[in-house]
Amino acid sequence: MDLLLEARNLKKYFPVKKSLWQLMQRGGQEYVNAVDDVSFTLQKGKVLVIAGESGSGKTTVARLVMRAIDADSGSIIFEGKDVTHYNGEQLKDFRAAVHMVYQDPYTSMNPRMKIFEILMEPVAIHDRASTKEARAAKVHSALREVSLDPEKISRKLPHALSGGERQRVALARALVLRPRLIVADEPVSMLDVSIRGEILGLMQTLKEKFGISYIYITHDLSTARYVGDDLAIMKAGKIVEMGPIDKVLANPVHPYTKQLISAIPEIKSQ
Ligand SMILES: Nc1ncnc2c1ncn2[C@@H]1O[C@H](COP(=O)(O)OP(=O)(O)O)[C@@H](O)[C@H]1O
Ligand SMILES: [Mg+2]
Repeated sequence: MDLLLEARNLKKYFPVKKSLWQLMQRGGQEYVNAVDDVSFTLQKGKVLVIAGESGSGKTTVARLVMRAIDADSGSIIFEGKDVTHYNGEQLKDFRAAVHMVYQDPYTSMNPRMKIFEILMEPVAIHDRASTKEARAAKVHSALREVSLDPEKISRKLPHALSGGERQRVALARALVLRPRLIVADEPVSMLDVSIRGEILGLMQTLKEKFGISYIYITHDLSTARYVGDDLAIMKAGKIVEMGPIDKVLANPVHPYTKQLISAIPEIKSQ
């Protein structure tokens, strides 16, 4: 098997905000161990699901992996290279290869920019060699890949789209630079239940067509089963259980995993 990404002993502690009075009372700064010694691997073309309750550290792991924030310790190996301390051009290249899709695409899009411009932005940064026409063609083809009609959608503003359409645009924006890894942080949790399957199905299609790997972050396991290859369960900054998803779901060892599984409606009713 082909290794795409390896996280080794990642740690991120955030200082707890306190008033001067509190600092005097309890003496010294306290920290929240948002990510506390997390390690995992992701094979090419696979989907790693990271599941856990709110506040367990999932988004912080995503931001560490993306190099959006720096780890306090540990390292990130991508395609065989240690990218932990990349900066400048190297970091720029890494950022073209790894993309994030957020829970609420609305907050990650400039509300005053038209869809075409939103997709053009990453292309303009990372592909200065191409002509304007070639870049526009890339944007249009990315929109078609997510089943949006460029003619109809290019000139619209984000607020004119439905939640599902916006998440398709977010996927197109990730896709436009042909990434090797997409980190999707609760990408369907704000969408209507009826269109969640559509978006997850689209992610699956893109994975197969372009060989994209995913880290799929979720707080509930009911969507995880359909997309995941491996499953890591996070609790209080640590991975408490990890393995092939079918195996973990069939034979959970940690009580917290059992608790998450019991919250899946279909399994519970059996
Ligand atoms: N920028 C930050 N500053 C301070 N604390 C943070 C910051 N980001 C996250 N945290 C804290 O780290 C912990 C993990 O948060 P997060 O990674 O967002 O969890 P999740 O995505 O699983 O809900 C939480 O206790 C959260 O309050
Ligand atoms: Mg989160």
